[in-house]
Amino acid sequence: MPRHVAIIMDGNGRWATRRYLPRVAGHQRGVDAVREAVRASVERGVEYLTLFAFSSENWRRPPEEVSVLMQLFRLMLEQEVAKLHASGVRLRIVGDLAAFDGVLRELIARAEEKTAKNTKLVLTICANYGGRWDIIQATRAMLAARPELAGGFGESDLAPFLAMAHAPEPDLFIRTGGETRISNFLIWQLAYTELYFTETFWPDFDARELDLAIASYRRRERRFGRTSEQVREARRAPADDPPPTARVDQRADA
Ligand code: IPE
Ligand code: IPE
Ligand code: MG
Repeated sequence: MPRHVAIIMDGNGRWATRRYLPRVAGHQRGVDAVREAVRASVERGVEYLTLFAFSSENWRRPPEEVSVLMQLFRLMLEQEVAKLHASGVRLRIVGDLAAFDGVLRELIARAEEKTAKNTKLVLTICANYGGRWDIIQATRAMLAARPELAGGFGESDLAPFLAMAHAPEPDLFIRTGGETRISNFLIWQLAYTELYFTETFWPDFDARELDLAIASYRRRERRFGRTSEQVREARRAPADDPPPTARVDQRADA
């Protein structure tokens, strides 16, 4: 089972357009798919689920659509947190939160605080998130905290300052909606993640679709630069040399 699944929830607009509905109807149905994905992840023992809800580039959309997305985000924080808390889900919101209004920021802080001790699943929502923003903000934060690193630093110096430092790197990446691109999602953290793309639009993504993605993941051999022979050898003698799949928490330079 992948420990960490990261998803670009794409295709809401096209789901709606195909039904002669306004695009926002697709976003509304997308919220149901989020609930289902959370439930199915908990059921399957996934430990971290990370969802791309709004990218730093999505501000370019028509203002009415941006405003509906903000309203849905706010509704989710107002209405879903109690249920998430009851199911043992810890909620994290990552991204450039300074762009959100005070009410939204307050709701985010309260939701994170309320669910902070939950351990069943860590649900991370990426909102106003961009992979490039993340690398820049992490570098700035690192240099502010440790000015002596200005002369030179490595991956393990930067890693604790990245927005996803609370989670191991994703094992499985899923993008719905048929596009085969990363769209500035977790560009640092996806370096060795198994990628899975499906034509299914996000509102239609259900537990069965998640199982298909997980089945595809389980057929892959994660080599992390090694040869297939080395990986199989390491599996036979796990005590001396843990297989690379057990080492996702470790950074490449660790
Ligand atoms: C993903 O669906 C949701 C967000 C980006 C917020 P889209 O709205 O991108 O749907 P398509 O790609 O236009 O179908
Ligand atoms: C990526 O989807 C962002 C989210 C799902 C939140 P987009 O639909 O915005 O991606 P592009 O612009 O088509 O690559
Ligand atoms: Mg899209």
